Amino acid sequence: MKLGLNIDHIATIRQARRAREPEPVTAALMAELAGAEGITVHLRSDRRHIQDRDVELLRQVVATRLNIEMAATEEMVGIACRVKPHQVTLVPERPDEVTTTGGLDVVQHHSAVRGAVAACRAAGIRASIFVDAIPEHVDASRAAGADAIEINTGPYADAPDAQRQAQLARVAAAAERAAAAGLEVLAGHGLNYVNVTPIVRLPQIVELNIGHAIIARAVLVGLDRAVREMVGLLKT
Ligand code: PXP
Repeated sequence: MKLGLNIDHIATIRQARRAREPEPVTAALMAELAGAEGITVHLRSDRRHIQDRDVELLRQVVATRLNIEMAATEEMVGIACRVKPHQVTLVPERPDEVTTTGGLDVVQHHSAVRGAVAACRAAGIRASIFVDAIPEHVDASRAAGADAIEINTGPYADAPDAQRQAQLARVAAAAERAAAAGLEVLAGHGLNYVNVTPIVRLPQIVELNIGHAIIARAVLVGLDRAVREMVGLLKT
């Protein structure tokens, strides 16, 4: 299973001082050397961490795959079509949230999502949608023309012990349904060194997007080691 490293937190530290360091580009290249097979950034409308110049520079230097998470807005789709990352992941975005708090309701926002997917695909960009493990949202992603979905593992990661198995089963069922519909299946949110293994064992999932746990460990042990340790868990 592949690791896509989310490097938003590197930019968060930089923006805390409106400084030049740490440089997300350096982090991306170090992560690739350590075994990450994709780099993910979330270009938020409020630019609280990742900036436009980051995605432009990353597009030039990332040797694996650059995945840009973004809201399905005209502004963001325009940027994606200009920068042309390997993949775009459409996510819901609320200005007051600390992090993405759930999957995109593809049923409710079907026409906006469909339009964004079509524009990205026409520009040669793979289109993925971050969705909760809800059958109708998986089906709606397929209907919207997506190439892939990323299943939200937040409810699994946050579940009390007694409910974790049930949440894992929901992720597994959504993964099976998506793969059967011809979608590539990714997963992410809230995954860490302790809870990732049951997700790794789900055969339909090909890639995990992980950010907070790896960058938090990197602060203490270094990015190279933190990435290698997670890659090790994903390869077992
Ligand atoms: N996937 C999506 C769509 C996200 O928005 C995030 C957080 O930015 C992640 C994965 C990574 O989540 P975490 O930082 O909890 O590993």
